[in-house]
Amino acid sequence: MNITRRPRRLRSSSLLRKMVRETRMDVSALVYPLFVVEGEGKKEEIASMPGQYRYSVDRLPEPMEELRQAGVSAVLFFGIPDHKDETGSGAYDPDGIVQRALRYTKKHFPDIYCIADLCMCEYTSHGHCGILCGQDVDNDKTLGYLARIAVSQAQAGADMIAPSDMMDGRVAAIRGALDQNGYTEVPIIAYSAKFASSFYGPFREAADSAPAFGDRKTYQMDYHNRLEALKEVQLDIEEGADIVMVKPALAYGDLIREVRDLVRVPVAAYSVSGEYAMVKMTAVSGAVDEENIMCEMAAAAFRAGCDIYITYFAKELARCINAGKIG
Ligand code: PBG
Repeated sequence: MNITRRPRRLRSSSLLRKMVRETRMDVSALVYPLFVVEGEGKKEEIASMPGQYRYSVDRLPEPMEELRQAGVSAVLFFGIPDHKDETGSGAYDPDGIVQRALRYTKKHFPDIYCIADLCMCEYTSHGHCGILCGQDVDNDKTLGYLARIAVSQAQAGADMIAPSDMMDGRVAAIRGALDQNGYTEVPIIAYSAKFASSFYGPFREAADSAPAFGDRKTYQMDYHNRLEALKEVQLDIEEGADIVMVKPALAYGDLIREVRDLVRVPVAAYSVSGEYAMVKMTAVSGAVDEENIMCEMAAAAFRAGCDIYITYFAKELARCINAGKIG
């Protein structure tokens, strides 16, 4: 046969395949989401996310040590308060659950980079991501609260703030408040293209944050849209976002790529709870191999162009990267 171009030539051995790999991964790009609850001595497994737990602050050394050992050094904190009210006051309580987790971690594990998720849905009695006006969230009224939460998280030691509420103008409001309070060096990683997604199902059980009525479609994005995602990303950057995010990751590779090509800031992708649960549950049935699927999903997100990958598989993935299985 007279075939000059033979792509298979570069696939002939493992060594060569690794040499010509186009996507390289590094554990420093991984972020691990962590749920913190009130109380003491608690490590509760989340039923819909086998292998994921809600820890009380005093039990945080366990996951922190595990992360350290795996080489993962960034955590995204979610707080689950005992007390919820109309205005989500637990979110800006100086002694709130996330603030305590941040203080504890910065004190005992100063090498761990602490990102604070900023949203009200875990703290409000109605489960929506802001202050209600009738059946809907009042955008502008919510902004003041978000700013206040951000400042209290920074005061507690957050290294970075991650607003996930999807209100208009929140990045500007948060940036302004942080700057006014002397936190000019605390970056904002904005959940910019965050879709109203059924992939968040297990998270809402984990964080006890399902809306009491309605859904989040008046603030989170419609998943039919791509131009709108680019608009959201651009607005957040104009307002001062240091890093932008696409969320979920698995079904949104097209947008990770488009955003990566469009902007000049780092791009994060969040492989959400439903992605994790789907892998776990399907693997248990024996239909797929958990580790292989996890690796393939991560490589796909990085190939799509993300610089930072937020995943519940951070530890396991780090082990695979360090062992040379992927990346
Ligand atoms: C808070 C928030 C959610 C997630 C991250 N921050 C839930 C939601 O918007 O309903 C989802 C994370 C996941 O599913 O892993 N607003």
